[in-house]
Amino acid sequence: MPTLKFAVLAGDYIGPEVMSEALRVLGHVARREGFALEPTAADVGGAAIDRHGKALPDDTLRLCEQSDAILFGSVGGPKWENLPPKEQPERAALLPLRKHFTLFANIRPGLLYPELAAASPLKSERIPDGIDIVCIRELTGGLYFGRPKETTTLADGDVQAVDTMVYRRSEIERIAATAIAAARSRKKRLCSIDKANILETSVLWRKTVAAYAARHAPDVELSHMYVDNAAMQLVRNPNQFDVFVTENMFGDILSDEMAVVCGSLGMLSSASLGAGRNSLGLPFGLYEPAGGTAPDIAGKGVANPCAQILSTALMLRYSFGLEEAASRIEAAVRRAVTGGARTADISFGGACVGTRAMSDAVIAALS
Ligand code: IPM
Ligand code: MG
Repeated sequence: MPTLKFAVLAGDYIGPEVMSEALRVLGHVARREGFALEPTAADVGGAAIDRHGKALPDDTLRLCEQSDAILFGSVGGPKWENLPPKEQPERAALLPLRKHFTLFANIRPGLLYPELAAASPLKSERIPDGIDIVCIRELTGGLYFGRPKETTTLADGDVQAVDTMVYRRSEIERIAATAIAAARSRKKRLCSIDKANILETSVLWRKTVAAYAARHAPDVELSHMYVDNAAMQLVRNPNQFDVFVTENMFGDILSDEMAVVCGSLGMLSSASLGAGRNSLGLPFGLYEPAGGTAPDIAGKGVANPCAQILSTALMLRYSFGLEEAASRIEAAVRRAVTGGARTADISFGGACVGTRAMSDAVIAALS
């Protein structure tokens, strides 16, 4: 019986609430499928600042290093907003984790079930079959990490800040490879998004993706689009995309746009994978819901646990090679939601259930 060793970093506000439901669902799947779970919890984010004085304590990082995957909740919120930017939970926990484990490939599925079309701000007739697209975001390069990154006072007394957008060809090639693999597992259509009419990094990006695809993936239909146009096309007709790939900052923005087009942040999962392999020889990864800590609804038992549950499915798929169990969880969430179990964010003013009842419905739908 395989044992799944993973770190559980629940974080702040609704993080722990949805995490415990996701672990409950995972427990049921493990019993049914015959694998054992070895989750180990550690502090991260604001909770870690309160208890240990920093957002990513050394013990937490060590635990992650000894695990085969990280199941992440979400971090940050008003309580820590007045800290210096560099110490804030998002920047001081999430970014170092991404960098430390070279988690360069962020996979964000944009999925809206047709039954939930009313949750999208788009007119339902534009998305009769719901939405099913995938955003692949480069996660360890570009403006987020480029040097110099600093604020200086100039000789004339003015103040200047600089961030650096920098990419190497090898960084672009490895994310292109991830995107091609994702495209191959779907409709073999890939759109690469850049700003090659203006940015040097984008010129290299476009050239590199095109050359890499020509050499390694003649079977994949590749197109290119400028990021401003892509932002517009995403709200005009999201399903014109199947898989799209883009650099870090563009991906941050486009994935939030994709999320709102898909109705609710409460339904969207994500996987961040790197070059590293875990003790099973599979990709080490960090799995987190897209929605954030939602301080306004924390502690009320109303948060939607589906994104966290779906993130555990991604963990089973990528870091543990348990495709069948992953698909089973995804099908159960879909069955539960389309069967009528809906938290407030996806109930459109109709009857809604709380966090616990939502995961109960998913567990019921597993069998
Ligand atoms: C995301 C978030 C993070 C990012 C923040 C919290 C650092 O917005 O994962 O998209 O900007 O990457
Ligand atoms: Mg973001």
